[in-house]
This record gives sequence, C-alpha cells and structure tokens, in this order.
Amino acid sequence: MSAIATPIAVGANAGASGSHVASGGLDLTHGVVLYLEGISVSFDGFKALNNLSLSIDAGELRCVIGPNGAGKTTMMDVITGKTRPDAGTVFFGQTIDLTRLSEAEIAHAGIGRKFQKPTIFERHTVFENLELAMKADKRVRKTLFAKLSSSQKAAIDETLELIRLKDDSNRSAGLLSHGQKQWLEIGMLLMQEPRLLLLDEPVAGMSDEETERTAELFLSLAGKHSLVVVEHDMAFVEKIAGKVTVLHEGSVLAEGDMRQVQNDPRVIEVYLGR
Ligand SMILES: Nc1ncnc2c1ncn2[C@@H]1O[C@H](COP(=O)(O)OP(=O)(O)OP(=O)(O)O)[C@@H](O)[C@H]1O
Ligand SMILES: [Mg+2]
Repeated sequence: MSAIATPIAVGANAGASGSHVASGGLDLTHGVVLYLEGISVSFDGFKALNNLSLSIDAGELRCVIGPNGAGKTTMMDVITGKTRPDAGTVFFGQTIDLTRLSEAEIAHAGIGRKFQKPTIFERHTVFENLELAMKADKRVRKTLFAKLSSSQKAAIDETLELIRLKDDSNRSAGLLSHGQKQWLEIGMLLMQEPRLLLLDEPVAGMSDEETERTAELFLSLAGKHSLVVVEHDMAFVEKIAGKVTVLHEGSVLAEGDMRQVQNDPRVIEVYLGR
C-alpha cells in the first residue's frame, strides 16, 4: 500500500503571515471568537453579502437561518478564505485578520468547516479516518503504519465516543449510514482541535433519530468549541439554538433567541411564514 494523502490540507504554518497564527495565539480577551464587520461580496454586481456584521462569542452555539440565497454559505466562504470580501473585516479572536490568510492558514489557525458532502475515506475504517485527520505532525507521520502514541490513541477514542461510533471503529467508513458518515466527518474535524466549527446544513438527509443525536452532539461540543450552524430544519434549530441570526439579502435581518426570531414579523414575512 502506498502512502495515503492527508485528508485535510493544513498546509503552511504561520510562516509568512507572521506571529498572528502562532500556536495557541488565539486572543479571546473580550470573549469574542469571531467578528465580521461591514462585509460585502458581489458576484457580477449582485450583492451576495451586503455590509454584513456579526459577532460570535467564544464557546457559543450560534444558528444562522434565512431563505435560499440569503448569503449563508457565502458568509462561510468568506470566513474560511474561499471567497475574498470586497469590503469589510473578519477577525478570529482579537488579533487574527482572516482576510489576510490563505484557506490553509485559516484551517491551521483553528477553524474547521463541514461541507454537505462528507469527504471521508470510504475504504478505510472509521478509526483510520480519524487517525488520518489527526493534527499530528504530518510531515513526519504520513502513513497509517507509523505508530500512534498512547495520547493519540486516547484522542481518537474520545472522539469515537463523542460521535457515537465506538462500536463501528473497525468498520469500513463506506458501510456507515448517511448520518454516521456525517458524524465521522465532524469527528475528523474535531481531530484537528478547531476552536471554531462551521457547519452548513449538517442534518440535511438525516433520519429523525440521527437528527436528534446530532443535536445532542452539537450541544456537547459547545463551550469547548464555538459553533456556527446553518440549517433550514427549524425543529433542529429550536433544539440547539441559544441565539439565532436571520440573514436576508446578505445582511442580518434579526437576531435573538428562537422565540424572539419566530415572532418577528419581518422574519415571518421573508422566511418562516412561507
Ligand atoms: N460563486 C458564485 N458566483 C455567482 N453567484 C454566487 C456565487 N456564490 C453564491 N452566489 C449567489 O449569491 C447568493 C447567495 O448565495 P448563498 O449560497 O450564500 O445562499 P444561502 O443563504 O447559502 O442559500 P441556501 O439556503 O439555498 O443554501 C445567491 O443568489 C447565489 O446565487
Ligand atoms: Mg447555502
């Protein structure tokens, strides 16, 4: 068997970007993990994001809702460096200006993103998938054959427990259910020890039971991690949400707890009433 590519590009370390991305360098002095201010993104003159400002507290579980095309995914693209804003600033903690970092540097700084389609290795076991995703020194340990330290094994076991795949750890990932594959991908993100997790429609296609488990998982991750969850499944949002942000036409239409947002006539008009 040949060497296996690492699943998530954690490319360059701080390097050219200076001390901002030094390990453990996330400055949470004011309790804010992410701060977007005045973000605008245009596609051929169409404003996908329009002067968007948003602040996420450290350890918070924030839900972002809004109609199709509101700019939710584009917002995640901006945070992760996939899309550069035309205007505005994005700060990770007090000091890390994300608009100046590459996608790989942003991942390395501690932001993990889950896409809708899981990028797991179907032919490998659940355990091996987590092993491959681990934030080990990938320059040294590029294959599955290198020995794991006991603390690395413990970290994998802890994640297996969290994502409820302990009993499936030796199964091929390809044999998992849709929901289990989603959890495995979340587990792979967790192996990178992210401070902030971005999840775009994580329960789409899940069974009710899987959706319920996912709600429990996210609630258990909050605190240690900060989470930004985009979802259209309102029952799910209701289960997990502290604060809900409603996006509409590229900016914040409303923000508050679930009840405030549900009773907001503007939110009912553009989204919930449909
Ligand atoms: N790369 C792109 N090029 C051109 N237009 C784009 C691009 N990405 C997004 N858009 C447009 O920007 C707007 C916002 O899209 P976005 O995907 O952020 O919405 P969303 O809130 O995630 O919607 P949904 O709930 O359907 O996922 C849409 O009108 C979309 O067509
Ligand atoms: Mg989207």
